[in-house]
Amino acid sequence: MSVMKICMLGGTGFVGRSIASKLAAHGHEVRVLTRRHERNRDMLVLPTLTLAEGDVSELGFLREHFQNIDVVINLIGILNSSGKNNFQRIHVDLVNKLTEAMQQAGVRRLLHMSALNASKEAPSKYLRTKAEAEDQLHQVSVTADFAVTSFRPSVIFGPNDSFINRFAKLLRMAPKVLPLACPNARFQPVYVEDVAACFVNAIHHYDTFGQRYSLCGPKPYTLFELVTYIADLIDARCRIVRLSDWQSRLQAGVMQWLPGKPFTLDNYNSMKVDSVCDSKFPEVFDVTPQPLEAIAPAYLREPQDQLDLFRRLARR
Ligand SMILES: NC(=O)c1ccc[n+]([C@@H]2O[C@H](COP(=O)([O-])OP(=O)(O)OC[C@H]3O[C@@H](n4cnc5c(N)ncnc54)[C@H](OP(=O)(O)O)[C@@H]3O)[C@@H](O)[C@H]2O)c1
Repeated sequence: MSVMKICMLGGTGFVGRSIASKLAAHGHEVRVLTRRHERNRDMLVLPTLTLAEGDVSELGFLREHFQNIDVVINLIGILNSSGKNNFQRIHVDLVNKLTEAMQQAGVRRLLHMSALNASKEAPSKYLRTKAEAEDQLHQVSVTADFAVTSFRPSVIFGPNDSFINRFAKLLRMAPKVLPLACPNARFQPVYVEDVAACFVNAIHHYDTFGQRYSLCGPKPYTLFELVTYIADLIDARCRIVRLSDWQSRLQAGVMQWLPGKPFTLDNYNSMKVDSVCDSKFPEVFDVTPQPLEAIAPAYLREPQDQLDLFRRLARR
């Protein structure tokens, strides 16, 4: 595999870090654009990685950093919209700038992160703007002469994920009862290293040019099943109570006003569509997706949980 010059947007996040590590391991030169150089200095341990601080919404900044770049990877996405940081600006306007800058700098390859169920008819703005961005990229790529591949994962898990870890935290904090919104929502979690492998394998693979891939792990779960599994793993004692649809909506309506917006009406709406795949993991990437059960125990249990489990097993 020849060495490539790759520029990543959103490369400092949960998924971006896995992709960046794999790219560096293959010897590729990786430039990561970030709003916060200092906060992400730890990434500089990767020998072929550099960080560039700036505003990705500025065309000039993108154009400057796309010079002599073979591949752009766009991972920027938000789950909650507020003020300037809104879905339209971060998902749609950004890809317009991105394609303009790519054309000006002559970049011919783009890997883009979308989301499963992204559709212009989706019930949530998160999914609608993801779809708008994805469709625009694929349309523009035809006339602008660059090859795009889009990835549409279900929820992604791994040591620093925000989904599984968040429920583990809530279960540890909940005194006796955890009221669970949207308990029947369905997900098919996919391992972050498998997603990262798809990105890396797609770079040179001509069959993936112009394609969109849904990425799911091997097994679907309801949210209730997932949270119950997490509770068993960390030996949480609280009872998980399934909220009805109107109670879930009410919880979202209230929680979206809390600091950090832990759960919003848009999140609630996005869970109305099952986040599961109707076909197998795309064979083109030569990846066998890992089940949650093979990975989560190692990162979810705190040292004390691990010790307790060891004691319980020893007593048997
Ligand atoms: N995690 C999942 O379960 C999941 C599932 C489906 C799809 N996705 C998609 O996958 C992508 C990556 O997800 P992730 O979990 O890795 O996200 P993440 O950890 O939140 O990282 C996203 C990165 O994007 C950059 N970013 C965020 N808001 C920005 C803004 N307003 N302006 C400029 N840059 C901004 C940040 O980089 P700096 O702070 O360094 O600037 C951040 O490191 C997203 O597009 C997401 O929608 C994720």
